[in-house]
Amino acid sequence: MPAPATAPPRDRAAILCGLAGWLPPRVVTNQKLSQRLDTTDTWIRSRTGISRRHFAEPGQATSDLAAEAGRRALRSAGVDTVDAVVVATTTPDRSCPATAPLVADRLGLTGAAAFDISAVCTGFVYGLATAAGLIAARVAERVLLIGADTYSTIVDPDDRTNAIIFGDGAGAVVLRAGHADEPGAVGHFDLGSDGAGEELIMVAAGGSRQRSASAPAAAQDHYFSMRGKEVFRHAVTRMTASARTTLTLADSKADDIDHLVPHQANLRILRAVAEDLGLPPQRLVTNVESVGNTGAASIPLALADAAAKHTIHAGERVLLTAFGGGLTWGSCLLTWPALTRIDHPHDTGGTQEP
Ligand code: COA
Repeated sequence: MPAPATAPPRDRAAILCGLAGWLPPRVVTNQKLSQRLDTTDTWIRSRTGISRRHFAEPGQATSDLAAEAGRRALRSAGVDTVDAVVVATTTPDRSCPATAPLVADRLGLTGAAAFDISAVCTGFVYGLATAAGLIAARVAERVLLIGADTYSTIVDPDDRTNAIIFGDGAGAVVLRAGHADEPGAVGHFDLGSDGAGEELIMVAAGGSRQRSASAPAAAQDHYFSMRGKEVFRHAVTRMTASARTTLTLADSKADDIDHLVPHQANLRILRAVAEDLGLPPQRLVTNVESVGNTGAASIPLALADAAAKHTIHAGERVLLTAFGGGLTWGSCLLTWPALTRIDHPHDTGGTQEP
């Protein structure tokens, strides 16, 4: 059969073209937590791999962190306009309205479509798929996606199981329209959920379920709760299965992956996922040691950290995988693009509490 006169149009895809992270300056070490809680630095490091985390200042909200990360991501991409701003978060400034329009306004992006994604720690991967969909459907040419959380505002500071795990932070990417065979093209994806696991990770009060009840909520119900042991098992199983599904969809094998970037939940979880996938430890990207679990911010913060340290290079295959409350999970495969500028997320003039 004769070759067609013109090549068929290549598939439109979303291309990662900007990346940044931002951490609030206040650093809280394990030693600092152990002054208040019945715990030790040794216990926390051995069970979670976490040494320190960053906390927002009193009065600082998720939009403040998100706007900083967003501003840096726009600078990294070398652009000052986008068609949509998507904020993945479990800790919105308010339950109504969404945080994204406020962030867009703060970034001088008034007029852009703006909405939040609520998929807990899987929010960033869900957000990537949503942004990719907006671009594929020609609703947007360029999208700013931010994962931002201030868990310090919903975790009980006296709850030693959860207070040691979570930190605050924001990470952001800019996606532009391009072609599926370009470096930086996001996808394949796998996304999933199991609402039967709702009670494993939740904030019981503040929503319509509690507000429609005749009795007022107990103070404790306004705090984040988690059944740690069960969550641990689900996190390993779901992230491993989702990563495998994504590899299968992309007709790839674990061996083709240069870097696995999981949601930074707990170092033991991350190592178990890498091991189950048959990946050597040096292909596992982690920054949980210095930031803790930052929810929807964790994957872009880990990417920004690795890219700024030149651990990830253009042309390498990167597999993202996440698990969170809902239950939700998701994975995404991409080839790393050549990014010209990435600020290290720790360059925030950090201060450590005595
Ligand atoms: N310091 C000291 N002891 C602690 C402690 C702390 N910060 N937190 C819990 N303990 C104690 C418990 O009270 C328990 O004591 P007991 O045996 O006397 O009852 C003991 O340590 C074991 O508790 P357990 O909850 O079984 O510990 P664990 O090994 O499961 O570790 C987590 C707890 C929370 C670190 C672990 O379950 C975990 O990481 N889960 C996943 C969390 C996560 O990543 N979530 C995010 C997913 S999106």
